[in-house]
Amino acid sequence: MQAPPGMPPKMSIPGVRYLIAVASGKGGVGKSTVAANLALALKMHGQKVGLMDADIYGPSVPTMMGLGMVDQSVTPFPVEKYGLKLMSMGFLVDPQQAVIWRGPKVAQAVAAFLGQLNWGPLDYLIIDLPPGTGDAQLTLTQQAPLTGAVVVTTPQEISLIDARKGLKMFNEVRVPVIGVIENMSFFMGDDGKRYDIFQTGGGKKLAEEGGVPLLAELPIDPRVAECGDGGEPIVSKYPDSPVAAAYLKLAMRVMEESHKSAAQAGLPEVQL
Ligand SMILES: Nc1ncnc2c1ncn2[C@@H]1O[C@H](COP(=O)(O)OP(=O)(O)OP(=O)(O)O)[C@@H](O)[C@H]1O
Ligand SMILES: [Mg+2]
Repeated sequence: MQAPPGMPPKMSIPGVRYLIAVASGKGGVGKSTVAANLALALKMHGQKVGLMDADIYGPSVPTMMGLGMVDQSVTPFPVEKYGLKLMSMGFLVDPQQAVIWRGPKVAQAVAAFLGQLNWGPLDYLIIDLPPGTGDAQLTLTQQAPLTGAVVVTTPQEISLIDARKGLKMFNEVRVPVIGVIENMSFFMGDDGKRYDIFQTGGGKKLAEEGGVPLLAELPIDPRVAECGDGGEPIVSKYPDSPVAAAYLKLAMRVMEESHKSAAQAGLPEVQL
C-alpha cells in the first residue's frame, strides 16, 4: 500500500502475500484466541500461515501453542508448530519476568519481528495485537504493509465503545478494516438451544456503523479456554467441534475479504 502523504514508507516483508492484523479496543475479548484459531483454520484451508505476537508486554502465543522460551541458536525464528510459523516476545523472555520497556523499544521489537525474520513464503501472516492503540499498534499500522485489520469485540456495549476506537484508529492511518468478529456471542446448550449470555447484536451494530462486514459470531465454549491454556488451540485439538466449524467459515470470509482488500488497494501480486 502507498504510504499516505506525511507518513513514512512501509517496510516490505518478502514472500508474504497478505498481512492481517487482529485488533480490539478492549482487552480480554479474545483477540489472541481468535488470531491463533484463525491462523489454524486458514492452514486447514491449505494456506501457508504465520502468526506474529505483537503483544510485547503480555505475549500469549507461547502458552496457546504449548511453547516456552526458545534457544534461537538451536531453533531459528520464526518457530514452527502445528504447521504455523510463529514469533513472540515470550520465546525470548521468561513469561514470569515482566518486560519493562519504554515505547520506542517496543516499536523496535515489533519492527524487528516483522522485518528481520524469514517469514516467507506465506499466504497469510496474522498479527495478534495488544489491546488498545499504543506503540505496537502505531508501528504496525504505520510501517507494516497491512492488507487489512479485523476488529474483535464481544457483544456488550462496554466492549463496543473501545472497539469503535480501534476502527477509528485504522481509518485514521488508512488501513482497511476487512471486518468485525464478534466473539463469545452465544452459548449452545446440550439441549441444542442458543443462549445469549451477554447482550446480542453488538458485533452487527459495530459492523454496520463502520460500513464493514460482520465476518463471524463465534460461540462461547469452555473448551476454547481449556485448549488455549493447554497449549493446543481448539481448531487443532477438536477440528470437528462446532467452534472449529465456525472458525473454518470465518477463515473463508477472511480469504475473500483479503483478496478484495488487496485488489482495491492495487497491491501487486506477491510471488511465493
Ligand atoms: N469463545 C470463547 N469461549 C470461551 N473462552 C474464550 C473464548 N474466547 C476467548 N476465551 C478465553 O478468554 C480469555 C481471554 O482471551 P484472549 O487472551 O484471547 O483475549 P485477548 O483479547 O487476547 O486478551 P488481551 O487483551 O489480554 O491480549 C482466555 O482465557 C481465552 O481462552
Ligand atoms: Mg491477547
